[in-house]
Amino acid sequence: MIVKATGAAITHAASLLRAGGLVALPTETVYGLGADATNDAAVARIFEAKRRPRFNPLIVHVADIAAAEALGDFSERARATARRFWPGPLSLVLPRRGDSGLSPLATAGLDSVALRVPAHPVAAALLRAAGRPIAAPSANRSGRVSPTTAKHVDQELAGGVDVILDAGPCPVGVESTVLDLTGKRPALLRPGGVTLERLAALLGAIDVPAADESAPRSPGRLPSHYAPSLPLRLGATDARPDEALLAFGSEAPPGFAEVLFLSRSGDLREAAANLFAMLRRLDRAERFSGIAVMPIPEEGLGRAINDRLRRAAAPVSRPPAPPRNRETPARDA
Ligand code: TXA
Ligand code: MG
Repeated sequence: MIVKATGAAITHAASLLRAGGLVALPTETVYGLGADATNDAAVARIFEAKRRPRFNPLIVHVADIAAAEALGDFSERARATARRFWPGPLSLVLPRRGDSGLSPLATAGLDSVALRVPAHPVAAALLRAAGRPIAAPSANRSGRVSPTTAKHVDQELAGGVDVILDAGPCPVGVESTVLDLTGKRPALLRPGGVTLERLAALLGAIDVPAADESAPRSPGRLPSHYAPSLPLRLGATDARPDEALLAFGSEAPPGFAEVLFLSRSGDLREAAANLFAMLRRLDRAERFSGIAVMPIPEEGLGRAINDRLRRAAAPVSRPPAPPRNRETPARDA
């Protein structure tokens, strides 16, 4: 059920969370599927609703740095990073505290934990009202495009969630950056809403493991993530028959069956905010032979955009899809 994220709705959602329920919540990046991270049964419901493999750990969301320090071991470097970028679209992988009280399911049995303090006012209010850590992956079925509106969540997980808090489209539009601070050098496990450039300005050199290398370290980084059902063609400069185009910049090459502009002004922020909704829209139209995407610069938020696009385009084996519902936009991956 989709409800407008009023104060009363947030209070009600917090009590659902404390009772072991599943709440879809807006964050500045994408909508998350939240559950009490200290409750095994509640966390197990997340994996079921998403059909997510259990080896893939979840991001644990908290209201502030103090709450995060009860769950992870903060080095001075971690504290400085948190102070600089929280609340915001950054998840920090830190050693998990022995007395964290987190469900081992939430961290997939790892001795580390990914922590995030989101900036979205509804997420922040919900975390304060719930008063406990909330595990929340993106609120899509495993392997599909992340939801940036409440309606997307409903299309993905209808029935599997107790309430969907609607606060309109997510302003950032791509997931949080996942930064691993457990090693000697910081490692970028997933590019996202906080750019590598900004992190490097604070932290100096940051390892950027190749995608296949980071998969074992960040189990969610399977190549075939974020998959639409239509074939995706990147760096496109010309049209193929019946193809739709995601354009970047003011000039789109001729001949496409439909053109959606990620950003006419070539603004990477605007493009990130539009990316998943536009992919979903073209994928659902069911009248195109494929989706082409114009080249996007590999800098700033462009790294996160290109990362999601490369994963969406990866022709990698996918787990068997559940029965396909006409209402659902994309095949499982
Ligand atoms: O923006 C976001 O991060 C959204 C919103 C809802 O917060 N959440 C999100 O969660 O994207 P999810 O589950 O779709 O992605 C979490 C990523 C996965 O790639 C997972 O493998 C990685 O974080 N991760 C979680 N815990 C980890 C850990 N202890 N070590 C390494 N990677 C971890
Ligand atoms: Mg996800």
